[in-house]
Order: sequence, then structure tokens, then C-alpha cells
Amino acid sequence: MSASSKLIERGERSERVERILTVENLKTYFRTPEGLVKAVDEVSFHLDRGEVLALVGESGCGKSVTALSILGLVKSPPALVEGSIEFRGTQLIGLGPKEYREIRGRQISMIFQEPMSAFDPLYTVGYQLMEVARAHMPWDDAEAKARIIDTLRAIHIPDPEKRYSEYPHEMSGGMLQRIMIAMALITSPEIIIADEPTTALDVTIQAQVLNLMQELQRDYHGSMIFITHDLGTVAEVADRVHVMYAGKIVEKAPVVELFEDPLHPYTLGLLTSRVKREYKGESLPFIEGNVPRADELPEGCRFHPRCPRAMDKCRTLEPPEFSPRPNRGVACWLWEEGDGR
Ligand SMILES: Nc1ncnc2c1ncn2[C@@H]1O[C@H](COP(=O)(O)OP(=O)(O)O)[C@@H](O)[C@H]1O
Ligand SMILES: [Mg+2]
Repeated sequence: MSASSKLIERGERSERVERILTVENLKTYFRTPEGLVKAVDEVSFHLDRGEVLALVGESGCGKSVTALSILGLVKSPPALVEGSIEFRGTQLIGLGPKEYREIRGRQISMIFQEPMSAFDPLYTVGYQLMEVARAHMPWDDAEAKARIIDTLRAIHIPDPEKRYSEYPHEMSGGMLQRIMIAMALITSPEIIIADEPTTALDVTIQAQVLNLMQELQRDYHGSMIFITHDLGTVAEVADRVHVMYAGKIVEKAPVVELFEDPLHPYTLGLLTSRVKREYKGESLPFIEGNVPRADELPEGCRFHPRCPRAMDKCRTLEPPEFSPRPNRGVACWLWEEGDGR
């Protein structure tokens, strides 16, 4: 495809863009005996229909709490959830439990990291899939079962009728993860939030589930928030990537640009360690130190104690989001004016 036809295609697409979720200045704080844990701190982003947004960052940077906040699964109080989460015109913050139940599972569904914890060991998976259908869809039981079997077949679960009657403990972790993906799909939700859907699986099964996620991205026309600590998994799946660090989004970019032209020193560190890393793990050998605890955040830029390019200003002032290129965002003082290279 020529560059110009690509542009035209993009132009056409942008006319049809429908903003489905807008998160503004989201703060989710927990009061703990050790102090206030600022798990998510003034996070803003949006999601358009049909796109896959990846949230990437090391463990503990606030990815899951962001997801749980969108789903209304953070209890507030005692936690503090502030800001704005607008889903197709409805403000989710402060929404009552009954209204939330109509949205959660039906319009926004979630795939969790630990498939075992999402299922009740006492019931067959078919029964549990049926419960989701009964709670949200207008189908009678025969139709619900037929649709569930279709969904299982659509995501390549062999012998779906047999699987339907099995108990969770009769299945491998990989199979159960697929069943959870099916569970998230039954209601044809507007948004699927997949929180590290492959992390708990062994490597070969990870690849299979990731392929399935890619297929979903192609065939399913809803939107997805794909959460991962592993930049390696986002390249194939995501349209845009947001990099999180210590409760903040530090960089926003279309996926190709993030890999080709990272702007934030943290993103660069993530990419470098991914390339040079010869072992599996979450640590970043090419960025010294660890993510600060959410109740012991440093002054200024939260990344400055680990940043090879930290300046005086970075130690005292928190950087706002700068936009040095179209469709890009970077919270780093290097980009305050001109080129941060
Ligand atoms: N219920 C809670 N109470 C107190 N602190 C929490 C709670 N849930 C998460 N946290 C803290 O919030 C921070 C972000 O957690 P999380 O979103 O789970 O990180 P991630 O998913 O990126 O690994 C961590 O420091 C974690 O310890
Ligand atoms: Mg998490």
C-alpha cells in the first residue's frame, strides 16, 4: 500500500472514530497503616471503538488498580477513587452497585491473570458460563448453551460439548484461561480488559493464548485494554501503548512509534533491557534500582532516582505531559522544549 493511500485510509478511519472510554485525572489511593498508597495518581487516557490499548509497566506500577477502578471493583471508601471515568456518556465514578452490575460483565468484561481464581471449583465450567449468560443476556437456556458452545468453538477449544461439562480442576491452566476468555466474550462486551492474560501460563501455552488474543483483536470489533509487564507481547496485539511508572502514565504512543522512537528514558530502559535480557524476569538490569513503593514516592519525577538523565529540576518538580510529536505524550522534563534527545 502506498503512503498516500495509507493516509487516506487513516483519514477515513478517523472520521468514524467513536470514543468509548475517557479516563481523566483518575486517582486511586489506599489508606494503609504505613501511609497513603497512591496506586494510581492522575492518570488520563482514552479508548476508541475497535482499538487495543496496551498498558505496560513493571509490577506494582498501578496497572491492575487502573483496571479495577474502571470496573468499580475498588471499594471507595475505604479507598479513595477520584477523577472521571466516562463510558459511552455515563460517569462510572460514584455509580451505584446495581448500575455497575449492568455494565460490568455485560458491557465491560475482564480477563484476569489467575484463571483458577475466576472459577468456582464446585461447579462445571459450563454452569459458570451459563450463569454469566443468564445474568446478562435475554436468551433461554437452550439458546444460551448453544451460544456458549459456539463461543468455545470460535476460540478453538476442542470438543467444546465435553469441556462444557467439566470442572475447573479437570482442566490445564491454559485451557482454563481460554475458558475465561470465552466467558468475557459471551456478552459481546464493548470493552474487554485483559490483565496479564498470559503471565501465569508456561511459555508455550503463553504463545497460544497470545495468538488467540491477536485473533480476537482482528475478529472482535469491540475495544480492548491489554495489560502486561512485558513489552514483548504488545507489538503484535496493541494499536497504542501507554507506559506506566509508579502510578503515572509516563509515555503514550502508537505501538510502532514506541518501539522505533521511544521518548521517555524509562521506555528506553524497558526496550533496552528487553533486547539485552538473556533471562526471564521482571527486573530491569539496565535501569538500576526498583520501582518505588507507592507509599514512599520520591519528590519530583518519580523516575528520577533511576534515570540516567535526571536534571536538578527532576528532583523537585513533577513533569506534566508534553506532546513533542502528534499523537505522542511524554511526562519528562527533557521534552519541555524542543528535542529531548
Ligand atoms: N487494596 C490495596 N491496598 C493497598 N495497596 C494496594 C492495594 N491494591 C494495590 N495496592 C498497591 O498499589 C500499587 C499498584 O498495584 P497494582 O495495580 O496491582 O500494580 P500492577 O498491576 O501494575 O503490578 C502497588 O504498590 C500495590 O501494592
Ligand atoms: Mg497487576
